[in-house]
Amino acid sequence: MNIGLIGFGTIGAGVVEIFNTNPDIIMKKTGMELRLRRVVDLDIETDRGVEIDPGILSTDADDILEDPEIDIVIELIGGYEPARSFILKAIENGKHVVTANKALLARHWDEIMDAAREHGVRVAFEASVGGGIPVLRALNESLAANRIESIYGIINGTANYILTRMASEGMEFDDVLREAQRLGYAERDPTFDIEGHDTAQKLIILTLLGFGVHVPEDELHVEGISSIRRDDIEYATAELGCSVKLLATARLNDGELELGVTPTLVPHHHLLSSVNGVFNGIYITGDFTGPVMFYGKGAGRRATASAVVADCMDIAVNPEGSMPTGPGIRVVESVRDFSRTS
Ligand code: HSE
Repeated sequence: MNIGLIGFGTIGAGVVEIFNTNPDIIMKKTGMELRLRRVVDLDIETDRGVEIDPGILSTDADDILEDPEIDIVIELIGGYEPARSFILKAIENGKHVVTANKALLARHWDEIMDAAREHGVRVAFEASVGGGIPVLRALNESLAANRIESIYGIINGTANYILTRMASEGMEFDDVLREAQRLGYAERDPTFDIEGHDTAQKLIILTLLGFGVHVPEDELHVEGISSIRRDDIEYATAELGCSVKLLATARLNDGELELGVTPTLVPHHHLLSSVNGVFNGIYITGDFTGPVMFYGKGAGRRATASAVVADCMDIAVNPEGSMPTGPGIRVVESVRDFSRTS
């Protein structure tokens, strides 16, 4: 199996690092050699801190998309364009796709999945939610026999780091945000993380797999954490026995699906209350399993790259695909705005 990687940034370098470090594991577990044949990025000069044969580097995505020898395309450039065009071209050319691009999937799910079905290839996206946490495959496959009753997720490490530090150190929001930026946990423009949009896109993907419903982001109730004060957190802790968490919620209530992203009081006795710092936690209840909890690193080079390479391995051994995902398995009658019920 030959692989082409588009996007040699932080996660892309992590992917190269796994292929350098664990080729024996990859070979033994798949029974075949997975070769990184070409790596494309606009910048192929910067040292990414990993060993790579300069001969496989290119600045032209067509060196991957038009190469008949390449079986799997990894897309790690993020955003809508040109990622969407690259993915659609890869699919049209009969290549499987692995992506971590939650924004693109949340907006263009139908277009991408329909194209993949039409051309008989797979699109795998474990890394798009929860970084290295194996939550999507579990939700789509291991929990498939269940009617999913609810999904609660702390799925943004930046927001969770800020809320955790505000609680443990008694710091104000702005001070922790500056600290998080200094430590490299928060982006220089952190709006997307702290205002809940990153969480919303991940919730859209969880909702697609859990409930078979595609909810556009502009129809979601999304509220971030920038208006939370130290006093709010102190009061929640001391008087209410709760942590404040930026929670993604998708739950069935009398057959209706309630969805939203909002700062939420989580009682200290609930497992999600112990998900601290940059860690993520996803708490899913199936009608037969009862609650199942996923916990781990939701971001970062190594953890996210782990999910990307595992997707490549899964496609290599199972190119025909896993169970169907998405609107084809819609299991709820209607969806309603979370703010009407919370
Ligand atoms: N910026 C995200 C977070 C990681 O802070 O969790 C990528 O999804």
